[in-house]
Amino acid sequence: MRLSRRHLLVLSAFATSLRAGEPVKRGMIVRSARPEDLEMPLDGFRDWITPLERFFVRSHVYTPAVDAAQWKLEVGGEVRNRLSLTLPELQRLPKVELPGVLECAGNGRGLFQPTVPGIQWEYGAVGNAVWAGVRLRDVLENAGLRASARDILFDGADLPIGKMPDFRRSIPVRKALHPDTLLAYQMNGRPLSRSHGFPLRAVVPGWAGDCWVKWVTSIQVLDREYEGFFMRTAYRIPTYAAQPGQAVDPARTAPVTELRVKSVIASPQDGARLAVGKPHAVSGAAWSGESPVDRVEVSADGGRSWFGAELDRSAGTHRAPGRYGWRLWSTHWTPPAPGPHLLMARAMSVSGAAQPLEPAWNPSGYLGNTVHRVRVEAGRAGTPAGPPARPVPAFPVEARTACLGCHGEDIIAGQRLTRAQWERELDKMIGWGAPVTPADRSALVEFLFRHFGPASHR
Ligand code: HEC
Repeated sequence: MRLSRRHLLVLSAFATSLRAGEPVKRGMIVRSARPEDLEMPLDGFRDWITPLERFFVRSHVYTPAVDAAQWKLEVGGEVRNRLSLTLPELQRLPKVELPGVLECAGNGRGLFQPTVPGIQWEYGAVGNAVWAGVRLRDVLENAGLRASARDILFDGADLPIGKMPDFRRSIPVRKALHPDTLLAYQMNGRPLSRSHGFPLRAVVPGWAGDCWVKWVTSIQVLDREYEGFFMRTAYRIPTYAAQPGQAVDPARTAPVTELRVKSVIASPQDGARLAVGKPHAVSGAAWSGESPVDRVEVSADGGRSWFGAELDRSAGTHRAPGRYGWRLWSTHWTPPAPGPHLLMARAMSVSGAAQPLEPAWNPSGYLGNTVHRVRVEAGRAGTPAGPPARPVPAFPVEARTACLGCHGEDIIAGQRLTRAQWERELDKMIGWGAPVTPADRSALVEFLFRHFGPASHR
């Protein structure tokens, strides 16, 4: 009955008076058109608040269209009173607003070496928005947590594709009761867009995006951590330093929670040509998990020396960044001599964590925060064109039949996987319902490996 109610919610969309904001996606990098996975380009790190149409989108499944008039939030499990709240009922609770960074756990995955499967995000699966909604704590207090309460499980109106597991995630009660953990119905002063979770999403400041469940319809209070696929198998990182390219021991992994300290250079961009002897602005954004950013430093000599950048001085920073908003930083650098130069930026948090120069590898490509490096050329004016985009090869008929029923070629063509990784990826997709005949299997692996192997250029 739960499924059919969710279907109803989705199918009866558009008959609503409370509409989701529908921003146009301006100049985004499309990692997958459907399901929708959109990345913000590097110049987005110039804005203190990311405009809605520039805010990255990560979707495991197709975007549901929820009818707000029929929507209800069900609260149950280890509580004294079950609740069933309409949107106006929920909005009667005190409204709270906070700026905060939302970053996908897999942001930076496309930079991992050796390469790992998954959406190949580089820098922009992150954005900074002003979230508004109610405290999750207020809802949980109205329901009355029992002493057995340990984890809070969110489920949304989204439906799994094929036989894939449903996307559900739980967070510990400690984080759920934090006054900054919200159920948000607004983003930058407007109703959430469908892509960003209309009508309600979790806001778990300082923690990775997998905890910020979208399209929330149900909150279940559990006496343990949730045991579904997206807690027990996906979104886990090793609790020890993993060997690059090696499998990790599943018993020694933990769910992805807090974000890591990170900075990104918005300007100049890779390949820029800068005049010698003239000061050039170097700027970007920096953020961290629960401990705020303390400082950002820039190096122009491969990391031998570092100089401090100024925080919050850029145009557009019109109010205090708060504990979880990102900080715009800027400084100037004068190229001393013609030739190539390497610019790097590193952020440090108040708790003493620093961005690493060397990448910390894990097999799913989570929480990448290696120092951003930008290569510039001092001497001649003008910006050179980047390398031409590589055309996607024609998919043979077996691959079209087996692979293009649920998503497009884009999600496949973004990968750079070894033969063994493609074998595993194929098994995962077969498990989710991809129609691969045993006769076609090895030809399919060969095709995928030949065109989308680690050595293929993008
Ligand atoms: C039954 C539907 C379905 C079919 C058929 C299917 N896929 Fe997928 N695939 C998905 C979904 C859904 C996702 C997105 C999962 C996510 O974002 O969490 C996905 C994601 C992917 C990804 C991104 C990495 C990942 O694991 O999320 C790759 C690569 C991929 N599919 C390859 C393939 C190939 C190759 C085939 C053909 C053999 C195929 N898929 C057929 C449903 C399907």
